[in-house]
Amino acid sequence: MHNKKIVLALMALSFWSAQAQKRIQEVEVLLNKMTIEEKIGQLNLLTPGGGVATGEVVSKDVESKIKNGQVGGLFGVSGPEKVRIAQEIAVNNSRLGIPLLIGSDVIHGYKTTYPIPLGLSSSWDMELVKQAAQMAAKEATADGINWNFSPMVDIARDPRWGRISEGAGEDPYLGSKIAEAMVKGYQGDDLSATHTMLACVKHFALYGASEAGRDYHTVDMSKIKMFNQYLPPYEAAIRAGAASVMSSFNDVDGVPASGNSWLLTDLLRDRWGFGGFVVSDYTSVNEMIAHGLGDLQAVSALALKAGLDMDMVGEGFQTTLKKSLDQGKVTETDITNACRRVLEAKYLSGLFDDPYRYLDPQRAKKDILAEDNRALARKLATHSFVLLKNHNNILPLKKAGKIALVGPLADSRENMLGTWAPTGDFNLAVTILEGFKNVGAGAIIQFAKGANISDDTDFAKNVNALGERIVIDERSSETMLKEAVDLTNTSDVVVAVVGEASEMSGESSSRTDISIPESQKRLIRALVDTGKPVVLVLMSGRPLTISEELDMPVSILQVWHPGVEAGNAIADVVFGDYNPSGKLTATWPINVGQIPIYHSAKVTGRPAPESGEFQKFRSNYLDAPNTPLLPFGYGLSYTTFEYSDLRLSKKEIGRGESISATVTVKNTGDHTGEEVVQLYLRDVVRSIAPPKRQLKGFQKIKLKKGERKEVTITLTPDDLKFYDAQLEFVSEPGEFKIFVGTDSNADLSESFILR
Ligand code: BGC
Repeated sequence: MHNKKIVLALMALSFWSAQAQKRIQEVEVLLNKMTIEEKIGQLNLLTPGGGVATGEVVSKDVESKIKNGQVGGLFGVSGPEKVRIAQEIAVNNSRLGIPLLIGSDVIHGYKTTYPIPLGLSSSWDMELVKQAAQMAAKEATADGINWNFSPMVDIARDPRWGRISEGAGEDPYLGSKIAEAMVKGYQGDDLSATHTMLACVKHFALYGASEAGRDYHTVDMSKIKMFNQYLPPYEAAIRAGAASVMSSFNDVDGVPASGNSWLLTDLLRDRWGFGGFVVSDYTSVNEMIAHGLGDLQAVSALALKAGLDMDMVGEGFQTTLKKSLDQGKVTETDITNACRRVLEAKYLSGLFDDPYRYLDPQRAKKDILAEDNRALARKLATHSFVLLKNHNNILPLKKAGKIALVGPLADSRENMLGTWAPTGDFNLAVTILEGFKNVGAGAIIQFAKGANISDDTDFAKNVNALGERIVIDERSSETMLKEAVDLTNTSDVVVAVVGEASEMSGESSSRTDISIPESQKRLIRALVDTGKPVVLVLMSGRPLTISEELDMPVSILQVWHPGVEAGNAIADVVFGDYNPSGKLTATWPINVGQIPIYHSAKVTGRPAPESGEFQKFRSNYLDAPNTPLLPFGYGLSYTTFEYSDLRLSKKEIGRGESISATVTVKNTGDHTGEEVVQLYLRDVVRSIAPPKRQLKGFQKIKLKKGERKEVTITLTPDDLKFYDAQLEFVSEPGEFKIFVGTDSNADLSESFILR
């Protein structure tokens, strides 16, 4: 019976179907040989430390545990030689010789670090996203890794939350496309190929909705919101064949995700047909004690029963499951099922055929940091940048004259990679100063730091707790400022590289004030006061509140944290070798008080006046408008695009029919450029109050100067559906409105009727 259920689940996903039967038989043979202790051992994921250790705990006595068959996988170990040592202990010295899964956090590139995921998502280019993941897989597998703790697909609508940097922003439609592209990039279509690795979709679920944007905080959300807004990217990743899922730290409907059987079994396995295995987050099983769910034995049993298969670092499974079995709190079948799923993954990886298949030392030399990889990282970075403002069209700069390059991030190698790049090496990064000198030759480029990232020593200490990224200069702020101003006064233009240090976003890096730190604001004001043209190159891992800067006569290029090719990529765009084409994937608020703010909010019964003026007894603020500083989907180019002639293929459709929207886009400026044509949908009347508009399609196109193109975006029957009060995925008859344009304020509009 059980086998039959597994076969059905596997068959549901074509990716898993090939040879599923054979694999199941082989796993069953092995399971029959295993003692209960050995089965529990496969559920234990440890980190010997030295690599990545994000929690308090680091595993002990790892070698003897592997020998005793008490370890199913490791992370924080890399390099063919080191992994070989670990794998040999498992294969030669444990009774059954079961190879280890070797995990890693390859979040935005392995050694060739590319932009942080929020930046990458801003490219809106699914082919590039896939190529990025393929490159990461090629490098990581060359270094012995066979399992990646990525993609993170958590929808995030609160830029205070530091981990917004690790995902694809606020939108479930775009998020789903990116989730799919990444899973396919990491896994290819054969997990046993030596350049592919198992993906792990995280953090399941709703981690991005932490209350008040504080990391690891509680989450409380209606099922309607969950299904319509937050779950789609996880489901898309599962449909794309993701081999594993990581449970999140937060609770879902009051039960921590790692012990939530509705989440891990009813939804994930029974509703979505997931056939892979679930791993906890770092000690998240143990943390259920603090959540108030019981002692270690109780929470470990709860997690196993809920459908969690592998326990990351906390060793609650290892130390208590046997006791729970003896006391009848879990069954042998519970343990066997979890073990079966872990062994299945090892089979899929090809580890049973050859435990050393990812350990060819020649490959590491050839595949890691190859020239092609760096070229791709540079391209990815240029495509991730978002032009927020181009005052007097000062950009692109000419490769001539005197350029003052200032700011605490202009010559700061350690802040180029961004957060969560533990496998990268910032020493390999190209600074902006170097990049400008490489690309902008012909111009005289001179540098002055101008300010510290922050002058607040306590803040710097907290940021540096995750690795030194803020260095407070010994010189006084006045001295630094004067130097930058003097340099600017004798230059033709000033480029200031300002914003956040790498560790000001990412895990455990939430902020209540998301503006540019005061030390840098002072620098920017002083530069503007010189009257010289000012370009701000803005670095951050999140949307920032930059009303003051946006109001100034400056140009702003948002570059996130661009990765190892930072300086070259920024120079490519600043000097016009690439025309920026990125679009924001999360709304930028005016101030923190507007959060959460996102384009697909619902309309209230008392909407604010269209004029934006305050009106009593309306849904608005006394001290700020409802509209954001910069909307979702926003991003300028060195050229301009004109949209016209929106038309639909039909005025009325039946259920089950598709409909296409066609629009003409013309490049009306002076440069060749790329544009992301965006389509938003409003379901005018339905049983569940609809969002104002929702992204339902996009296409990135390239147009030469003066060129015009017709762009057609097709909506499938599923694009008109939503989850209703019964959580059924349905469409309801009535009017639909389509908006097409350059961002989420798109105003070309047409309507159609669904019969
Ligand atoms: C993070 C995960 C990560 C894990 C292992 C945790 O703290 O939340 O995203 O995969 O550590 O490094």
